Amino acid sequence: MFKCKVTQKKIKPFMSFGSMPLANGFLKKSQFKKEFFYKMEVGFNEDLSLFQLAEQPEAKLMFNKDYPFFTSSSNFMINHFRLFSKWLKKNNYLKNNYNLIEIGSNDGTFLNNFKNTSINFFGIEPSKNMSDLSNKKKIPALNFFFNFENVKNLKKSIGKTNLITAANVICHVQDLNSLILGIDLLLNKKGIFIFEEPYLGSMYSKVSYDQIYDEHVFMFSAHSVKKIFNIYGFDLINVIPQVTHGGSMRYVIGRANEHKITKNVEKILQYEKKNKIDSFEGCLNFKKKCLESKFLLKEKINRMKSMDKKIVGYGATSKSTTILNYCGINSKHINCIFDTTKEKVGKFTPGTHIPIVNMKDFNKYNKDYVYLFAWNHKDEIFRKEKKFKKDGGKWFSHVKL
Ligand code: TMP
Repeated sequence: MFKCKVTQKKIKPFMSFGSMPLANGFLKKSQFKKEFFYKMEVGFNEDLSLFQLAEQPEAKLMFNKDYPFFTSSSNFMINHFRLFSKWLKKNNYLKNNYNLIEIGSNDGTFLNNFKNTSINFFGIEPSKNMSDLSNKKKIPALNFFFNFENVKNLKKSIGKTNLITAANVICHVQDLNSLILGIDLLLNKKGIFIFEEPYLGSMYSKVSYDQIYDEHVFMFSAHSVKKIFNIYGFDLINVIPQVTHGGSMRYVIGRANEHKITKNVEKILQYEKKNKIDSFEGCLNFKKKCLESKFLLKEKINRMKSMDKKIVGYGATSKSTTILNYCGINSKHINCIFDTTKEKVGKFTPGTHIPIVNMKDFNKYNKDYVYLFAWNHKDEIFRKEKKFKKDGGKWFSHVKL
C-alpha cells in the first residue's frame, strides 16, 4: 500500500467504507480466489482543506495494460472535449503554434481536436493499451506516469510548454509533489495548467459517495487546489463548474503574479466556506448522509426483492464498485449489469461478482427495475432507452435521477 505523501501525517480519518476491491478490477470466475482487497478509508487534511483516501493501492495495480476506461465510449465526453478545445481558444489559453501537453491522454479523445492544426501536441498516458490505441490513431502519446523524474527527459518541452491540460487525472495522482514539480519544469513563464476533476462540493450535495474509490485519491475543491498550488508559487486564476462526472470543476493555474485572478475564484471560495466544503465539519455531515443513503438503498432493494421484482444494472462503472461493496449488494439482488465495453462483458463485478452482460441484449431481457450505475450519463442514456420506461420499467439509483 502507498501512503499518500503530500501530507500523510496530517490526515484526520473520519470514515471507513470497509473492505474494498479495485474499482476497475472486473474479473473472470477463475480469478475470484485471488482477488485483491484493501480497507477503504477517507480522511481530511485541515491545513490544505483536502479530502482524500487515507491509503491507496499501488498505482501499477490500477493503471495497467488492461485499464478498461475509454473516454471515447461516451458521446457526451467526446462532445465535452470538443467544446473544451473551443473554450481554450476563445479564452486565449491556446493560440496558434502553442505547445500543448495532455497528462493522462487516454485514447486521445481530447487531443484529436488538434489534428491538422498549428498546435504542437502530445499526450502522456501510463496505460499501455491506451497509449497504443492513441498512437494508432496518429495522436502521439508517450507511455509513462507523469512525474518530475520522467518529464526531466522531455528536453524539448522544458520551459517551452504553453499549456498543460488534464481531465479526471490529477485526483488519481498519489505524489502531487512530483507532479507539480514536473508541471513547473515544463511550463514557460506565462504557461497555464488547466485541469478538471470531480468536485467535492458536488459529491457533498448529491451524496454521490461512489466518487470515492481506489483511483480517486483526492476529491478537490477550490480551497484545496488554491492552497496546494500556492505552496509551489502558482495561483488559482479561474474556476469553472462542469456537469461532467456528476459535477466537476475546471481549475486554471498560472505562475503567481503573472495573470489576473478572475472574480469566479472569490465567488466559489465564498460558496465553499458557506457550505463547509473547506472544513472538517463538512466531512462529518457527509458521513452522516452516506450512512442514511446506504440504509435507504438497502431498504429499497430488499423491498423490491420481497415482491419478487427482477433488478438489473446499467453501466458497470468503476463507481459502482464502491456502492455494491459498501452496501453489500450482490448477484442475489442484481441479476446482471449491462455494459457496452467489450473488455468488461463476460466478466464479473469486483468483490460482489455480478455478471456483466452485453448491452445489445438490454431490451430483450425481462426486468422490472434498472439500477442506473452510470447516473452521471443519465441524459444520454434516457434518450437512448426510451422504450424501457415506455414499457413500464423503472430506473433507480442511490442519487436523485
Ligand atoms: P465509468 O463511470 O467508470 O467511466 O464507466 C462507465 C461505464 O458505463 C463504461 O463501462 C461504459 C458504460 N456505459 C454504457 O454501457 N452505456 C452508456 O450509454 C454509457 C454512457 C456508459
